[in-house]
Amino acid sequence: MDTIQEKKLSSFAIDVMDGLRADPKYLSSKYFYDEAGSRLFQQIMHMPEYYLTDCEMDIFKEKGDAIIQAFGMNGQAFDLIELGAGDGLKTKVLLEKLCQLKKDFTYIPVDISATALNDLEKSIRRILPEIKMSGLKGDYFEMLSHWQHQKPKVLLFLGSNLGNFSMEQTRNFLSELRKVLNAGDQLLLGLDLQKDPEVILQAYNDPHGLTAQFNLNLLTRINKEMDADFRLELFEHQEVYNPDNGLASSYLISKEEQKVTLKLTDETIRLTAGERIFTEQSQKYSKTMIEEMAQQSGFEIVSWFSDQRNWFTDVLWRVPDNSAKH
Ligand code: AVI
Repeated sequence: MDTIQEKKLSSFAIDVMDGLRADPKYLSSKYFYDEAGSRLFQQIMHMPEYYLTDCEMDIFKEKGDAIIQAFGMNGQAFDLIELGAGDGLKTKVLLEKLCQLKKDFTYIPVDISATALNDLEKSIRRILPEIKMSGLKGDYFEMLSHWQHQKPKVLLFLGSNLGNFSMEQTRNFLSELRKVLNAGDQLLLGLDLQKDPEVILQAYNDPHGLTAQFNLNLLTRINKEMDADFRLELFEHQEVYNPDNGLASSYLISKEEQKVTLKLTDETIRLTAGERIFTEQSQKYSKTMIEEMAQQSGFEIVSWFSDQRNWFTDVLWRVPDNSAKH
């Protein structure tokens, strides 16, 4: 009797196959960040066209004291929890100010990568040896729902990371977050604002070709992890910005009709000339959109902190007192 050999596929392989079988095709931007992708993202953050990092850095440098004042922790101990901490470059500015002001806080960076957390903790200890810090590896909600501390919380979700979620994922994310927070807990959200489309297109289709490499690296990852034969030279990076809804979208376009074989799942994918694979969305927000998101997910807005050009905002939300759980 024949035995059917079932391969246990990773969630990466399952998601990739779902996306490549779909019409139109898509791949999830959460898979950009393998080792090579994370390195490319670091380079992107340092290029002048990618204004987001510089804007948020400026906000923390210029308005860090006002942000800390808005937290309102006068002598009260609190947990400062950063979701998806990454290299913490911007957060360090805020942490330094919190330490200078002798605030009683514990910094809790949360990340799915143990290596990223380790590197971050080491680099923070180097500049702030006195800081109370305890990194957590894992899934945001799992971690927050088991949170036992009774101290007030300030959550940081910076860098317009929220912008990479679809509207539905955003709604779910914010309402899940709301459920694990108590009245008075706060969320500092870094969000990229709508602006001149040219500025946005330069940031996401840069003249150095770094964003193109970052996007194409997803195909390299599939080649490696799924024994596939994507030929990178047959694809092109495309960025589209729609000023009507603030949506910046990334695609990989097939330059010609072609077939790609994925040996891991024993499948062949066909692409026509000009066919696009959607790979990422980066939402650019209006103030009204942000106000609506806060209201719909059960938060109230405490303060806005924006850079001089008004390109980026760090907005502080708070769970209102006596509010019912959303
Ligand atoms: C991580 N995230 C907020 C970045 C963004 O701006 O959407 C990822 C990125 N994609 C292209 N360049 C940077």
